[in-house]
Amino acid sequence: MRKPFIAGNWKMNTDRRGAVGLATGLAQELRDIETVDIAVCPPFVYLDAVAGALNSSNIALGAQDVYFEPNGAFTGEISCAMLKDVGCTYAIVGHSERRHKIGETDELINKKISAAISSGLLPILCVGELLEQRQADKTEAVVTTQIKAGLAGLHSDKVLAVTVAYEPVWAIGTGVTATAEQAQEVHAMIRGLLADMYDQSVAGQIRIQYGGSAKPANTAELMACGDVDGLLVGGASLKVDDFAAMIKTVA
Ligand code: PGA
Repeated sequence: MRKPFIAGNWKMNTDRRGAVGLATGLAQELRDIETVDIAVCPPFVYLDAVAGALNSSNIALGAQDVYFEPNGAFTGEISCAMLKDVGCTYAIVGHSERRHKIGETDELINKKISAAISSGLLPILCVGELLEQRQADKTEAVVTTQIKAGLAGLHSDKVLAVTVAYEPVWAIGTGVTATAEQAQEVHAMIRGLLADMYDQSVAGQIRIQYGGSAKPANTAELMACGDVDGLLVGGASLKVDDFAAMIKTVA
C-alpha cells in the first residue's frame, strides 16, 4: 500500500518569523500523525530556520527547486548537497511556475531529477497541462511527454525515489480544483504510463500527488480516488489550521 504523502509548497511566501511560526504550529498540531508522510517546502533562505523549528517532529523538509551541478560557478543556484546539509529530504522539481514563468525545460528538469536522486534527495516531479492544452484534448499527450522526458534515463531502482505531482496549471492558485473524476483519470493514466515505462510493481509503488487548489473542503473527495496518493498544497499550506485539517482528514 502507498502511504499518503501531503506536502506544502510555500512558494515565495512568508518571512523568517512567519516561516518559523508556521513550522512550529504544524509540528505541534500534527505531532500524533503517523499514517501520513508530511513535508513542508519553504523558500530556500528559510530552510535552515524551519529545519530548527521542525527539529525532531514527524514533518520532513523539502526545497522548492534544486540545481543539478554539484558546485561551482552557477550564480544563484543551490546544489543537492547544500539542501541535504540543511536537512532537506525532498525537492520539488519542474513546478509549473518554474516551467511557465521561469522557462525551465524538460531537459533541465530531467537533469535535476537525476542529480537529486543520485544525492539521496527525494524529488517531487511536477507535471500538468495548461488550460488551452486541456481544451484542445492534449492533456494526456502533454503529461506523457513531461513524465517520459522528466524520468528519461532513470532505471527502476532509481525511479522509486520519485513522487509525481499532477498539477493541472489551470487549477493552481485559481480556486478552481480539478474534480475527483478529472484527477483520477489523469492519475490512472500516469500510473499506466509508469507501468509501460517500468513495470506494474514500480507503477504500484510510486506515489502520485494531486495539486491545484487543494483545500480542506475537497481533501476527502480527492483522496478517495484510487490513484490519488497525496496532495501538493500551495495556498492552503500557509495556514496551520487549513494544512493540519487536510492532513488530519487524510489520517
Ligand atoms: P495551490 O498551489 O494549492 O495554491 O493551487 C499548488 C501548487 O502550485 O503546488
